[in-house]
Amino acid sequence: MIDAFAPLPSSSAYADAVAAAVQAAAAYYTDGATPLGDDEYDALVRSIAAWEETHPDEVLPDSPTGKVAGGAVQGDVPHSVPMLSLDNVFSAEELASWAAGLERRLGRPVTAWCVEPKLDGLAVAARYRAGRLERLITRGDGLAGEDISHAADAVLGLPAALTEPIDVELRGEVLLTQDQFDHANRIRADHGATPFANPRNGAAGTLRAKDRPYRIELTFFGYGAFGLDNDLTHSTLLERLAALGANTAATTAAAPARCSTLEEAQQRIDEIAALRAALPFGIDGVVVKADSAADQRDAGSGSRAPRWAVARKLAAEHKVSRLLDVEWNVGRTGIIAPRAVLEPVVIDGVTVTFATLHNPGDIERRGLMIGDAVYVLRAGVISA
Ligand code: IVH
Repeated sequence: MIDAFAPLPSSSAYADAVAAAVQAAAAYYTDGATPLGDDEYDALVRSIAAWEETHPDEVLPDSPTGKVAGGAVQGDVPHSVPMLSLDNVFSAEELASWAAGLERRLGRPVTAWCVEPKLDGLAVAARYRAGRLERLITRGDGLAGEDISHAADAVLGLPAALTEPIDVELRGEVLLTQDQFDHANRIRADHGATPFANPRNGAAGTLRAKDRPYRIELTFFGYGAFGLDNDLTHSTLLERLAALGANTAATTAAAPARCSTLEEAQQRIDEIAALRAALPFGIDGVVVKADSAADQRDAGSGSRAPRWAVARKLAAEHKVSRLLDVEWNVGRTGIIAPRAVLEPVVIDGVTVTFATLHNPGDIERRGLMIGDAVYVLRAGVISA
């Protein structure tokens, strides 16, 4: 039996620890019954991570530490504080039981919640020294990321200099807004490059690309920081980020809201979900966070995710389908417009069989052929 709390003494103890963690995770995901409690599992993963830090050449491929980013490319810049993921809930009921669990753990009601959009981009850490941006790093595997400082000047909302000469690390999401995505694909078409399939792929490719003959702008949204006053509530921290010159979701219709009760939080989730199609950037959920620093501290974090925050996931808005045909129709305004006939796909509970091709030039530019796989985006209300 492994002592999950002690540092691992040897390679074979490390291998046993990885095997025990893999078995516990497998049992958890198949029938929900795990031989280890959450805390024991977290402690086991922490001791595995500690051993791997000193023996980076001996990391086993099935180690649970690599799962933070779902197998993303690892980088070589260690994070000052691990970049965690978020646990997910998929309904109001699941959110309520998650909140009840958090309050049980705290032994008191959560002081307040902060509800904000879950931005569909890539997490980055931006290190500032004396107010100057020194390094931009991807999340990588959560423990170390890639240096992408070369991309920093193309990221709007991430200033080269803050309004104060402080040492701080900002955390947030970098994405392509819908306008930036459309513009990026026009530029790529002009350069004979294949268009990005969606804004997320475009943001990932753009952040990592070096020596491109053209520039594609991206947008940063800050949602975290290390190095500021530890006692700030999350909503005050967001205000501080904005005062330092960083962009936050407060500039958008889906602005973060401080809610005193879970009912209010649920209402803000519904509002943000309803705004989703009209937002000029992609979101894949709504994040609910305990707002007070004391609640966050007392709840703590597991190895994968904090216990004080959760993502309320929203149904996927785009799906992959197949282009079966293109029909040319006379629209209501008398203009002849093409529409795509698709293999039926269900998006947000609606079966979609036709899609308007807003820009016929796109068909040629993208080299679309009958039978091709296509992304179908449900941008607004679909009428039959
Ligand atoms: S908080 C320690 N807030 O979602 C807290 N994350 O699925 C972890 N994300 O890794 C992050 N919007 O890349 C937070 N408003 C938001 C977010 C957000 C998007 C991303 C982030 C995280 C991933 C987890």
